[in-house]
Amino acid sequence: MSMLYLDNAATTPARPEVLEAMMPYLTRWYGNPSSHHTVGEAAADALADARARVARVLGLRNGDVVFTSGGTEANNLAVKGIALAAAQRRSDRHVHVVTTPIEHESVLESVDYLERVHGYAATRVPVDEHARVSTDAVAAALRDDTALVSIGYANNEVGTVQDAAALAAVAREARVPLHLDAVQAAGWLPLSADELGYDAISLAGHKLGAPKGTGVLGVRSRIPLEPLLHGGGQERGRRSGTEDVAGAVGFATALELAEAERVEASARVSAIRDRFIAQVCERVPWARLTGDPEHRLAGTASFTFEGTSGEAVLLELERRGVVSSSGSACAAGSDEPSHVLVAMGIAPAVAQTAVRFTFPRWLNAPLDAVADAVEASVTAVR
Ligand SMILES: Cc1ncc(COP(=O)(O)O)c(C=O)c1O
Repeated sequence: MSMLYLDNAATTPARPEVLEAMMPYLTRWYGNPSSHHTVGEAAADALADARARVARVLGLRNGDVVFTSGGTEANNLAVKGIALAAAQRRSDRHVHVVTTPIEHESVLESVDYLERVHGYAATRVPVDEHARVSTDAVAAALRDDTALVSIGYANNEVGTVQDAAALAAVAREARVPLHLDAVQAAGWLPLSADELGYDAISLAGHKLGAPKGTGVLGVRSRIPLEPLLHGGGQERGRRSGTEDVAGAVGFATALELAEAERVEASARVSAIRDRFIAQVCERVPWARLTGDPEHRLAGTASFTFEGTSGEAVLLELERRGVVSSSGSACAAGSDEPSHVLVAMGIAPAVAQTAVRFTFPRWLNAPLDAVADAVEASVTAVR
């Protein structure tokens, strides 16, 4: 039985072009970019080239690109790094941060840490039943001591897309930096800093066909940033540690490919997604689409199936050759209902019935057979 992997928001396979681009920097050009000899200089050149390629896609300067170990580190560096640096410039040494309750754990836990260990203040602006945050509500949450607004561009569990440009405009008006967690948005939505107006952006390679453990924080150089990793001063002092040259090359390659394919892939996959959502809702009377019907990622279809258990439906689906997830990979396996669904006002018992299908960018055929499998799986569980 062939298996269809529909959990691409959790992670994606590495693309052959990415592995091919990386290979020379794991074997022949293995130098340390800080070394002053030809072996090191070849690595430094490759790193600089990867940085320039990422900067070009984002519309940032080369010096604004910080390579990290992934989305979690990029989010930690943005949230803690910007808040800690801002607090040092205030006489009371305290700041306020604004976020939402539906962020990835790497943002939520970083904000918790700032409150718990540093005594900073935080506002989590509520979202509506579609997981959208109101720009006005964010504007109203801003204070004199607000150091950062950190918001997910697209949600990992329900695929809701926020109006990043409007949020950036509100933040800019108040002279507060906006950090976008674009880990799920990359490859589906525009990332241009000019178009969106963000000050910092997090990206993760493994959602884009690069290996796990690669990522980027794009952060405008004028934003003071306190490093989290201290040491040899790599990445302009913002992230010490010998650089993962091959990882940077792989990340840049994956990001460029995803950006080149983005417009066509989004149109193609969202048409397949819409047909799939319609079929599931038609055939399964208990199915409810979660997330915004309109402002949603092309590659995400997420539902609750009241009267079932999400985990049981997943097992039935896998028996039928479809691999999906109950929400985020982190929440999977825990008995806690998803914090995202609960923040959207979905009852905890219903939140336990969530199933998320996230599609690959290359998807090019209708998912009618998957809709059949969903109907059969839900019926079997109920
Ligand atoms: C929205 C979002 N932010 C951050 C992350 C964390 O990225 P990483 O897995 O690279 O640490 C993820 C991935 O699960 C995510 O979906």
